Formats: sequence, C-alpha cells, structure tokens
Amino acid sequence: MSGHGEAQAMISAACGPLTGTADVPGDKSISHRALILGAMAVGETRVTGLLEGQDVLDTARAMQAFGATVTRHGQGEWSVQGVGVGGFSEPSDLIDCGNSGTGVRLIMGSMATTPITATFTGDASLRKRPMGRVTDPLSLFGARAYGRQGGRLPMTVVGAANPVPVRYALPVPSAQVKSAILLAGLNAPGETVVIEREATRDHSERMLAGFGAQLQVEKTAEGHVITLLGRPELRPQTVAVPRDPSSAAFPVCAALLVPGSDILVPGVSQNLTRNGLYLTLAEMGALIEFQNPREEGGEPVADLRVRFSPDMKGIEVPPERAPSMIDEYPVLSVVAAFASGITTMRGVKELRVKESDRIDAMARGLEACGARIEEDPDTLIVHGMGPGGLPGGATCATHLDHRIAMSFLVAGMAAKREIAVDDGSPITTSFPIFEGLMNGLGAAIRQG
Ligand code: S3P
Repeated sequence: MSGHGEAQAMISAACGPLTGTADVPGDKSISHRALILGAMAVGETRVTGLLEGQDVLDTARAMQAFGATVTRHGQGEWSVQGVGVGGFSEPSDLIDCGNSGTGVRLIMGSMATTPITATFTGDASLRKRPMGRVTDPLSLFGARAYGRQGGRLPMTVVGAANPVPVRYALPVPSAQVKSAILLAGLNAPGETVVIEREATRDHSERMLAGFGAQLQVEKTAEGHVITLLGRPELRPQTVAVPRDPSSAAFPVCAALLVPGSDILVPGVSQNLTRNGLYLTLAEMGALIEFQNPREEGGEPVADLRVRFSPDMKGIEVPPERAPSMIDEYPVLSVVAAFASGITTMRGVKELRVKESDRIDAMARGLEACGARIEEDPDTLIVHGMGPGGLPGGATCATHLDHRIAMSFLVAGMAAKREIAVDDGSPITTSFPIFEGLMNGLGAAIRQG
C-alpha cells in the first residue's frame, strides 16, 4: 500500500478556548533512524515512544524486507533484531515508502554499500520528489541507481560490491542527504566525510554515536565536518523517542491564535537544530513559557505553556534559520496571517520539494481564505490581518501533504468562517491522533 487510503475531506470551525494538555506523538525523524540503525546493529534494539504514523510503519516494513525482525510489543514499544552493518539481504519485492522522503532516502543510503539490489517506490507525492540529491553521492561509493527522468521513483538501487569511502560537501542543506551518506559510509572501509555549510538536524550523528560508531563533528570555516569511521559493529540500544517538535507546532500555534487558550505541551524537543519555529514565535510576541528543561532520550526537552497571544507582530524570519524550522513554515504562515504586519520568509526554496510545493500550497490556500500573499521561487510573504482577521470560508487543497492539511485546519480554528481541506488522510503519516488530540483541547474539527 502507498501510505494512505481514500481522500478524506475535513472541516475546521472557529472554537472556544483551547485548554488542557497536548501529548503529541514521538519524533518522526528519530523514529525512522531508530528502526534503521536497529536493523544495522547486531542484536536486539528496544524502542519506546516510536511514532506509529504511516511513514514510520512503512520504514518498519522495509527493514523487515531487508532481513531484520521488527516486532510491536505495545503502544509505541517496538524491538528490532538487527542483522549488522553489511548484513542486509536482498528484498524479494518492491520497497514501498508511501509518502516518506525521509524513509526512502535513508533506506537507500543504508543499503547502497551492500551488494544487493532493491527497487523503491512510493505514493503520487513521493514519486514526484527528486532522488538525485541522494543517488549522486551514493554513486561515489560505487552504488548505481536507475530511476525515471529527473531522478524520480520508482528507482532501482544496485548496492556497491566494493564500496569506497566518500568525502562530500552537501550542495543543499538536507539532513536526509547527510544521513543517507552517513548510513552508506557505515559499510565502506575507512573514513567517510560529510561537510554541511548550514547545520541541519543532527539526530543521525547523535544516534550513530549512541550505537557505538566512531564519529567526529568539527566546526570549521567550511561548516560542520562530520567524519565517520566505516565498518563498526553497532551495539543495540534502548532508544526513548522524544515527542516531535514539528507535531507540537500545531497545538502550539492553534493555542496562540484561539482567544482565551492556555495549554501545556509537555516534553517538546529543544534541540537547536529543530527549534527555529519557537525562536521565531517568541520574536513575534508569542506567549510561550519553556518550563522544566531537562534531557529525555538524549535530547534536550521542555514543557511548553502556551497562551492566546493577541499582540503578535509580523517579522523577517532570518534565512539562516530555515534548516532548523524547515517543516514549520506552513503553520508559521498561518500564524503570520493572524499577526499584525508583514511576515517575510526568505531562503525557503527547499519547501518546493517537500511532500508538496509548500510555498505554492500555502499561498493558494491562504489567498482562497482571503489573505494577501506574495511569493517568488525562494520567498513567501504573508500580510497579516490581525487576531481573528482571516476571513476563511474556503476549501484548501492539501496535495497529499500532511503539514498543509494540519496547517489549514489550525487556520480554521481562528478564522471568521470555517476552513475545509480537500484531503486530510495524509495526516496519518506523522500525527495519527491529530483530530482527537485537537478536539480534546477544544477544537471543532470534523470529517467532511
Ligand atoms: C528530515 C529532514 C528534512 C525534513 C523532513 C525530515 C529528516 O528534510 O523536511 O521532514 O528526518 O532527516 P530535508 O533533509 O530534505 O531538508
């Protein structure tokens, strides 16, 4: 199956204050990595708090297809019996990664230096996304990839029989590409080096070190230089997955926009490579308190108390902040529509190659709801209409993109008239409990 089922329209209406506690699910990036590194370790890795969204379930199934044993023991509790670095066997069928760019790119990396062949596909969204950014560096290890025009899925990857280590400077700031190279480097002899000019999420580096790989990160004039020594024996771990700051963004932003709201969102990652949205909201005048800072599952976390914030102002979001909030621009553009003044988001062209072209999807949807938007290939500008100011009353197209769907449902909670989305089914890829959680806080979201 390809990620999700039938299209499901959803509608969000203005609601009373949001109150209570929002326990958001586990982090998607860390969940993928826990399953993949668990499959590459020797012995049994235990995972708690795993996100049971469709993207991660597709990765679990893929790891089984490569020979690992993946078992669900209870809600979020899983184990992976790994086969060791270089121990993957050849899958007997297509690897269908559904909607997940992270899943397909990391898995391609993890098999690219083992002499096996696998053919990858995904849903209509994933089949439009560029894979060359991953297969180009993987070819330097000696792997070969045969896909459709423009490096699109379906694509067959033939793993290198005699892989050589690679030194590669990332041409785009992408944690997926960085991680694919590091995972491939695990089964190449010698040192694989990845250089990133702008820091992207560092979960792979943290987790590789936790599994016992020898990995060094140096800050130099070129940026981060990450050096991995190949052919380690990875030791199985117990991974406690922290809650996902990208999912937390939805109840947080909703509470900022709905009058009278006051909610608690516990255990939200404060990892500096993920917290750009929270810095940006603070600069806009959001009332967010970061309580009880601590470490959970190797990640810094805090409990967020979030209150209705009627005095938010539009700002210029610094472009260098983009990698640390790349998935949060859609919901930020909703907050911007309810702020006073103009919010300018520059340096955001990567949004055009996500699950959908997110600049276009947000621009068209917000315009349909009555906002004034400007855009260019690398920029999104939202003219704020003040608290409660967005007219709404539109149906927005989600283009198989979970974050576009959730962003417009948040907008509907504070707009003058209801906002519908044509298809909310992709929400299950990252936040399967979204509707129940939001309605539990006081939202009025329903299936259409
Ligand atoms: C992710 C990296 C980001 C992000 C995606 C998850 C990851 O993609 O958008 O949702 O887990 O490495 P890019 O690496 O393409 O920026």
